Amino acid sequence: MRHATSIISLGVFSFLAILAAAFAHDIAFMNHMWVLAIVLVISVMVLLRRENFQRAATVDQSAYMDGPVRYGVIATMFWAVVGLLVGVVVALQLTYPELNIEPWFNFGRMRPLHTSGVIFAFCGNALICTSFYVVQRTSKARLFGGDLAWFVFWGYQLFIVMAATGYLLGISESREYAEPEWYVDLWLTIVWVAYLIVFLGTIIKRKEPHIYVANWFYLAFIVTVAMLHIVNNLSMPVSFLGSKSYSAFSGVQDALTQWWYGHNAVGFFLTAGFLGMMYYFVPKQANRPVYSYRLSIIHFWALIFLYIWAGPHHLHFTALPDWAQTLGMVFSIMLWMPSWGGMINGLMTLSGAWDKLRTDPIIRMMVAAIAFYGMSTFEGPMMSIKTVNSLSHYTDWTIGHVHSGALGWNGLIAFAALYYMVPKLWALSACTRCAW
Ligand code: HEM
Ligand code: HEM
Repeated sequence: MRHATSIISLGVFSFLAILAAAFAHDIAFMNHMWVLAIVLVISVMVLLRRENFQRAATVDQSAYMDGPVRYGVIATMFWAVVGLLVGVVVALQLTYPELNIEPWFNFGRMRPLHTSGVIFAFCGNALICTSFYVVQRTSKARLFGGDLAWFVFWGYQLFIVMAATGYLLGISESREYAEPEWYVDLWLTIVWVAYLIVFLGTIIKRKEPHIYVANWFYLAFIVTVAMLHIVNNLSMPVSFLGSKSYSAFSGVQDALTQWWYGHNAVGFFLTAGFLGMMYYFVPKQANRPVYSYRLSIIHFWALIFLYIWAGPHHLHFTALPDWAQTLGMVFSIMLWMPSWGGMINGLMTLSGAWDKLRTDPIIRMMVAAIAFYGMSTFEGPMMSIKTVNSLSHYTDWTIGHVHSGALGWNGLIAFAALYYMVPKLWALSACTRCAW
């Protein structure tokens, strides 16, 4: 039986979830545990139906493991539809307040559903599946850890479902971009460590002597997100059978921790990981080498060193000491340079291939994505200047900046990567009737 261990462990966890629901200390936790139990029981049923009780076929250990990548592509598209749709609903709610359906679908619960839906579900799945695709091809090695990659994929989907349903049930830590409660955070930590093991293990057993630059960016993203997630979510649950917890930090220290996390979620989740995507897929699609390998190394180290200090620009004119605000501002301005180092390297990779812009829709998406990256990383440092921030903060300028980065950069480069991978993953022939 191929899935025996999965079926037994899922069965045990379903039972534990039902017990947790039965002994829950608050209604929200009880409802959430029922959701978990239902999801787990359905998973057991699906696995049992797929089981054929024959000896599992031997796996060709020299071939790439593309199953989790294919599922990841589908999950990315699925969550893109959900996340963007909720974005439209949230936008409509701002204009037509009567669309707030109390209590589950009010703006306060739907907005984090949108932000987590697009950042963690859509972008997160895009990052996981492209990183699995890229690391295998650039290391000439199969994913490390056997079925651990499947655990990462399904474990991550469970995290998304628990986070999303939690928001709608009113369960939230109220930490921006880190809203899930303690037990969902713990689960994500386990999944993320497994992700690190799969990724790092594949790099360690690589057959290529060189670690390609895209893998440096992906690795920085995985390691830093682990660190940010753990520190920002240090908290004490009121009860191990309850949905509420209290943060280890309070007051201005708490604010600083939250924005240290928040800004680096932008820096490492939405930037470093996506630069990894850019460094693999742009040269591949343009069929050109990376413009400057030296520049990629310099801007990598500069980017990760500077990003980590820039968080206080989210706390201008607050109780945070003035020197710390200024420090955040200065580091943000310096951040402009490595960011544009990345943009220049991406765009200049097209030197000699600019004609493709007329005929290749994937290249068009990539160029638009890199242009948006350049624009938002110019706008960001400008908005971090205190006098500018006194104008922009509390206005839709911030929302505009967010979407030029998130939709323009992350959205377009992710879609370009999917367009690149899908024909290869499903061995589809090139579209012959396309008019572009
Ligand atoms: C169909 C596309 C989208 C629509 C209609 C949309 C709509 C919205 C709306 C209405 C808000 C709330 C604005 C407010 O409170 O004033 C919002 C916030 C936000 N959206 Fe989107 N969005 C879209 C795509 C995306 C994508 C692709 C991402 C990220 C990958 C994203 C990330 C965010 C973030 C991070 C915020 C919070 C901004 C802040 O707190 O400053 N959105 N979006
Ligand atoms: C050099 C790079 C960047 C710098 C220095 C920067 C700086 C800033 C500043 C100053 C704000 C406004 C803070 C406030 O007034 O509350 C902001 C907001 C934001 N930026 Fe950027 N930005 C950069 C790049 C990006 C990119 C590439 C993305 C997305 C991919 C992004 C996503 C966001 C988000 C989501 C927010 C809203 C945070 C909130 O919920 O309040 N930023 N950024």
